[in-house]
Amino acid sequence: MLEADTEAGAYWTKCGEEALAHNVKGLVMMGAHWACLGDKIEVATNPAPGKSFCPFSSPALYKDWKPNPDLATAERCISMLQAEGFNVGPNPDFTWIHDVFMILIRMFPDHTKCPPVTIISTNARYDPWYHVKVGATLRPLRKEGYLLIGTGGAVHNLYRNAWTDMLLYRESLGQERPPEAWALDFRQATEDVVTKNRGPALRKAMVRLMQHPAYREAQATDDHWMPALFAAGAAGDFEDEAEPNMLAAETWELVNMANSQFTFGRYKDEREKMFLGRQETEKLPHPRMATVAA
Ligand SMILES: [Fe+2]
Repeated sequence: MLEADTEAGAYWTKCGEEALAHNVKGLVMMGAHWACLGDKIEVATNPAPGKSFCPFSSPALYKDWKPNPDLATAERCISMLQAEGFNVGPNPDFTWIHDVFMILIRMFPDHTKCPPVTIISTNARYDPWYHVKVGATLRPLRKEGYLLIGTGGAVHNLYRNAWTDMLLYRESLGQERPPEAWALDFRQATEDVVTKNRGPALRKAMVRLMQHPAYREAQATDDHWMPALFAAGAAGDFEDEAEPNMLAAETWELVNMANSQFTFGRYKDEREKMFLGRQETEKLPHPRMATVAA
């Protein structure tokens, strides 16, 4: 999915175009591949980060794309997280990983257009509420025009993927047989949780998915689930109850891996447009009332 043209990749491009259209101030991202030990969490502060090797993808796709790290926002995130009691510090040596830069390349193919990016690590104890709280702590940045992104996977068990086509032919999207029942079940549970819960109920339901009977098969390790909890934390306040959460795109690959793309909430101006639209509609005479009056 990182290399091929897919529905998921096309959606990232759309998200990038929307971010630019809405003058997003910066991006704050948590990927699945960077975890800190003990009770620690880190924020990337490397002013000139390199990019680590991306498996199964041609380096031509990413070698010339230049990262745009946001050091000022990184320091702010550290202060905000410290104020909430997190053991958090800067990492001035961090090298960007494909969970961040391959998504950004789809969003902003021209790196000069990419807004400044702050990257937050996960914590390797993989406590769900810890990651919800990281998102909740950084949630106020959304009101300032930052876009918060978590990149992991809805169904992501590398031990249960069918790798033969990838290893022989560098092909992952054939889906020559249907995904197994546990993969379909957990993917459906994830869609239901996201689209039928809002605000704090979304946070609780996302955490509760870790007790779903198919969770451990869908996520062999917890690392790819944590960024979704970060996103739910960032979009799961009582204020967010007015906001829809949607499944916007999806790409299955390697038979059992579901790459579902969820968007929580809306841009402020879209929300206001909707609210104003509703007010205008409410001013119009109700059609049935008009019939009664006639
Ligand atoms: Fe990954």
